[in-house]
Amino acid sequence: MTTTWKPDSWRAMPIQQVPDYADPAALAAVEARLSSYPPLVFAGEARKLKKGLAAVSRGESFLLQGGDCAESFAEHHPDNIRDFFRVFLQMAVVLTFAGQMPVVKVGRIAGQFAKPRSAPLEAMNGIELPSYRGDIINGIEFTPESRNPDPRRIEDSYRQSAATLNLLRAFAQGGYANLEHVHQWMLGFVKDSPQGHHYQEIADRISEAMAFMRACGIDPDTAPSLRSTDFFTSHEALLLGYEQAMTRVDSTSGDWYATSGHMLWIGDRTRQPDHAHVEYMRGVKNPIGLKCGPSLSADGLLKLIDILNPENEAGRLTLICRFGANKVFDHLPQLIRAVEREGRSVVWSCDPMHGNTIKAITGYKTRPFELILKEVKSFFEVHAAEGTYPGGIHIEMTGKNVTECTGGARAITDEDLSDRYHTHCDPRLNADQALELAFLVAELLKASRHGETRKIAVAGI
Ligand code: PEP
Ligand code: CO
Repeated sequence: MTTTWKPDSWRAMPIQQVPDYADPAALAAVEARLSSYPPLVFAGEARKLKKGLAAVSRGESFLLQGGDCAESFAEHHPDNIRDFFRVFLQMAVVLTFAGQMPVVKVGRIAGQFAKPRSAPLEAMNGIELPSYRGDIINGIEFTPESRNPDPRRIEDSYRQSAATLNLLRAFAQGGYANLEHVHQWMLGFVKDSPQGHHYQEIADRISEAMAFMRACGIDPDTAPSLRSTDFFTSHEALLLGYEQAMTRVDSTSGDWYATSGHMLWIGDRTRQPDHAHVEYMRGVKNPIGLKCGPSLSADGLLKLIDILNPENEAGRLTLICRFGANKVFDHLPQLIRAVEREGRSVVWSCDPMHGNTIKAITGYKTRPFELILKEVKSFFEVHAAEGTYPGGIHIEMTGKNVTECTGGARAITDEDLSDRYHTHCDPRLNADQALELAFLVAELLKASRHGETRKIAVAGI
């Protein structure tokens, strides 16, 4: 590990998951142009998010992080952004009410384009081509031209991120996020859901609380905080040439910030402590995430925490745990104990998606809703047993009515998967499944707030 960090010091380190560009000069030209383009986010916004996450680390707030596994050029449409935002806000309202605390809202959006892959090549009908690595790198179509990494895609991703973020900012601040609208949408979901009676009680209580506030003269017309919300962006910092080009000095603090998104995370496949991705991330001041999978030991985690958050700053580091529904009890307690023993400040978040991917008999990659729920529930139970705070969830979801994960109240079966299977990478929760998950997590959060470890009497868990 070098001691002097620079935006390009990662280039001297070994690196995983790097695409093989045929024309390095074309790549360098794109990166040079990008480095003079406007930043997508400001350092002050990243600091605000860090403050919000510091509150999560103290148990005073809850983190909701979610969005596409991989954004795509093909799905870049205002309706998709709107529908995602709409479901995400409903989830946040349910969680705010259940936790009786603010929810920090972070999308996997406006930059979530690069994907780590388990194999560099993919074979189909006897032909081998480079694996699809996300639209920022190559195309999903199985042809040699499309699978060839093309640097022009990096600028296209930057522009798509800018347009997406522009609309999200308008939605968040321009009146769309009005709490009364969000509440009405949520009531619509409860009415239409086959499991709606399970959620009716919480929905009724939110309705009463809003009626009471309105009677007291607190409504979106009188209280600006009910008309708008803070919404932040995040993505995996995988394509480091892009990240380096978007790394800028903040003029107020003199510190380096990644300006491609408010929060960046290190994937489970690229967290080697002496490799390039950890090197890049240690030097930017943004709040960052670290994916923690079953191969991470307690010592390995402490070593990474030393590198990534040497000053033990609250809100800097979110540990995004993704073990698989049946492995949480084997892995999480030892990580929590090591962090507690060393007095390290972290946010504990649960990604119940990436350890629960299976192949359906129909051949589709899917994730059973029951396993997703089981992983979240185990995460809460372990924290209750250890006396620590389950600070958030990290999910892959869309606002559309896709059929990618099985189960849920509308019970998507293996046979249904082919109906609307649109993901460019991993299977996402659809709008109903995402909201249903929020209601179930709300129950867990409420129980954890009351210090209860009681079994949650909700169908399926
Ligand atoms: C992801 O979040 O899309 C991802 C690839 O996760 P992980 O690094 O945890 O496998
Ligand atoms: Co994914």
